[in-house]
Amino acid sequence: MNARLSFSDREPAPQDFRTEVLRGLTRRHKRLPAKFFYDARGSALFEAICQTPEYYPTRTEVAILREHADEIARAAGPSCVLIEPGGGNLGKVRLLLEALRPEVYLPLDISRQHLLSAARSLATDYPWLRVHAVCMDYSRGFDALDLSRWPEHSRRIVFFPGSTIGNFEPAEAVAFLRQTARLAGPTGGLVIGVDLKKAPDTLHRAYNDAQGLTREFNRNLLHRINAELGADFRTERFHHYAFYHARKGRIEMHLISHGAQTVRLDGQRLSFADGEPIHTENSYKYTVEEFQSLAALAGYRAAACWTDRDLLYSVQYFEVAASPGP
Ligand code: AVJ
Repeated sequence: MNARLSFSDREPAPQDFRTEVLRGLTRRHKRLPAKFFYDARGSALFEAICQTPEYYPTRTEVAILREHADEIARAAGPSCVLIEPGGGNLGKVRLLLEALRPEVYLPLDISRQHLLSAARSLATDYPWLRVHAVCMDYSRGFDALDLSRWPEHSRRIVFFPGSTIGNFEPAEAVAFLRQTARLAGPTGGLVIGVDLKKAPDTLHRAYNDAQGLTREFNRNLLHRINAELGADFRTERFHHYAFYHARKGRIEMHLISHGAQTVRLDGQRLSFADGEPIHTENSYKYTVEEFQSLAALAGYRAAACWTDRDLLYSVQYFEVAASPGP
């Protein structure tokens, strides 16, 4: 392993997947956590979705990061400890690295192999950069992260692009942001990508691409449960259904049972009524002001905001305003 690349393994036990899947599918309103989309096939499907003409968030965010990298770096300051929860293929941070020149970069991701190969190629492409990859489920907090080995005096910046914050319920988003504020500390900051409210038909198209990649991405959760937990979902008998719930300000994704059916999972029989949904994802959309109010509840002060011309997407910068408490 490259001398400038190190790795900590806090990978969640496979048991956690089984437990959370069983818990979600035995509720009255069945649901599955969106974080489980990203096995190897799911991650590849998501990357393919990002290339579709309908899915505007990725290319819009990339353009914003590219255009404003210098300003973002100026806001964040030099030689920070840069922490990215859920970095995926670590593509976006590349747009900031030359401008930001962090002291060390810590990508955190639940998907171990994906993280390791992405961290290796990043370390190869940026020979001056120190990279410390951590395999962990960041949705359980940052306690597994040991920051004592990094320079105490360096400012800590959390980088959370991709509008992943939209997957959280607003109250959970506040709780999560509060944890990032605690992680960043009193002198720290947050660079975050937030998808904006817009015409429902644009949103609808983004989650119902013509190639059917989002449908496959959604159904892949069932493939994964079959493969890893030995279930017998007939995945073609669950329809992809994604719509914008304007009053709640969110895209909802479901898998709708086509006909009444039963599925075997872990020695249990799960029944699905005809038309019964499994709720697989929420993707909340915010106005800039709505998101700033949310972040304020988590102890952040809005310091800067960059958007594209059409106001599709935003990259926002926050500073920790107050000691956010436990
Ligand atoms: C990766 C959570 C930002 O909510 O837009 C893409 C995931 N779901 N198409 C999103 C997703 C369906 C995506 N995030």
